Amino acid sequence: MELITKKDYDELSKAVGDFVIDYVGKKPDSLICFAGGDTPLGLLKYLVEAVNENKVDLSKCRFVGLDEWVGLGRDVKGSCQEMLYNNFYDLIPVPKEQVCFFDGLAKDLNEECRRVDSFISDNGNLDLIVLGIGMNGHIGFNEPNVPADTYCHIVDLDPITKEVSVKYFDTALDVKQGLSLGMKTILEADTIILMADSERKADIVYKTVHSEKTPEIPSTMVKDAQKVYFFIDEAAGKLL
Ligand code: F6R
Repeated sequence: MELITKKDYDELSKAVGDFVIDYVGKKPDSLICFAGGDTPLGLLKYLVEAVNENKVDLSKCRFVGLDEWVGLGRDVKGSCQEMLYNNFYDLIPVPKEQVCFFDGLAKDLNEECRRVDSFISDNGNLDLIVLGIGMNGHIGFNEPNVPADTYCHIVDLDPITKEVSVKYFDTALDVKQGLSLGMKTILEADTIILMADSERKADIVYKTVHSEKTPEIPSTMVKDAQKVYFFIDEAAGKLL
């Protein structure tokens, strides 16, 4: 795992954005996954600007969502779909059939997982995945002690994830489960990017860098994949 430290959130977002632009320049039809949540907001803004300035063409890329809260649809502020469509997919010219997202309202959640698995395998596996890190080390909704051999799956959310979730929603929502790409899906990606910013992530950044690989801290599970880049800002790295 290569650790790359940038001065602040803007520099971090720009560095990951330039990485994505360079990657797509080499493989214009890449299958890409971006996390939801707050961490990638600056990156997505940077990419939308780059598209508008003709610095990158994302129209041939395929995109898959990383995760979704069970019970929430795209119309709910704070759902992963809402965040990614409003901040990215709806702002770039990409054919809608090239974007696949978990439907948190699906009647059969297992079938929904298989649908997303099929989209990925039909498109030849993930090229690039950009992940945030939860306060408990989760990546996607792969919570502590997640099995390493899962593809898309239904997750019972960890108490810390439920507690942190209130920051995304306008009203209190009782989220209990999530749908997520699994560890196996993530580990089969050609290139993995982890991103973390701000002092509140300093502890989990320290653990991710210094702990042995352990399912208790899911972010450590990607450490010895072949191409893994951990982009942080100085505040997130302050305990290193
Ligand atoms: C979101 C996701 C989560 C977040 C993580 C960090 O789709 O998969 O794993 O990346 O919880 O969240 P933020 O970026 O809000 O600190």
